[in-house]
Amino acid sequence: MKNLIANTVDFVKEKLEGAEAGHDWFHIERVWKLSKKIAQYEDCNQIVVELSALLHDIADPKFHNGDETIALHVSREFLESQNVSEEIIEKVLFIIKNISFKNRAEAPKVIPIELKIVQDADRIDAIGAIGVARTFNFGGFKNNPMFDPEVKPNLDMSKEEYKKSKGTTINHFYEKLLLLKDMMNTEKGKKIAEERHQFMLLFLDQFYKEWNVD
Ligand code: ADP
Ligand code: NI
Repeated sequence: MKNLIANTVDFVKEKLEGAEAGHDWFHIERVWKLSKKIAQYEDCNQIVVELSALLHDIADPKFHNGDETIALHVSREFLESQNVSEEIIEKVLFIIKNISFKNRAEAPKVIPIELKIVQDADRIDAIGAIGVARTFNFGGFKNNPMFDPEVKPNLDMSKEEYKKSKGTTINHFYEKLLLLKDMMNTEKGKKIAEERHQFMLLFLDQFYKEWNVD
């Protein structure tokens, strides 16, 4: 198992060479560590958790013209090359397929504990100080405006109002990041998310104060 994990680390590092900083090897490493931490409190298959955490962003559809099947092919090929059993491969691929926030509407209602753990870890890395940094990095990568002072977003905004300020990085907090703490699956995940959520609220308050919109 040590070898399998070490080989997976090498494989993922190589695959993610040159990736945007919010989705690079260090994102994977943080999610892997967080997954292991949360897994300590749950009755789960450790190897499935670790492999899924390591492979979960191997071919993000955002960077592959929306193609969601590449990640599954690439992961299967790698796991087969490592002689991983079909049973484990299927569990890992199921997690990679269903982890995304974007696809949550189509996700199965009953999900295995290993998916709950890695999903929590991935979502935790999207919030807090790291979340703020990743989000502005991604916005910069896309050349999006940081903020539209004409529209100060909030969680109760209508779709129409949203459209007016669509595409700002600050909007992403209201579209996604501030919703994540209530979507945690595990008790440990909830605890970590709560603290990071409070930090984001503090950040937004300070941001508006400095921008002078209040
Ligand atoms: P998922 O894979 O869970 O559906 P994404 O890969 O779209 O989520 O998002 C991962 C991270 O990328 C977000 O938490 C955020 O930091 C950044 N990100 C994604 N979309 C945007 C956006 N429109 N503006 C700023 N950051 C974004
Ligand atoms: Ni991720």
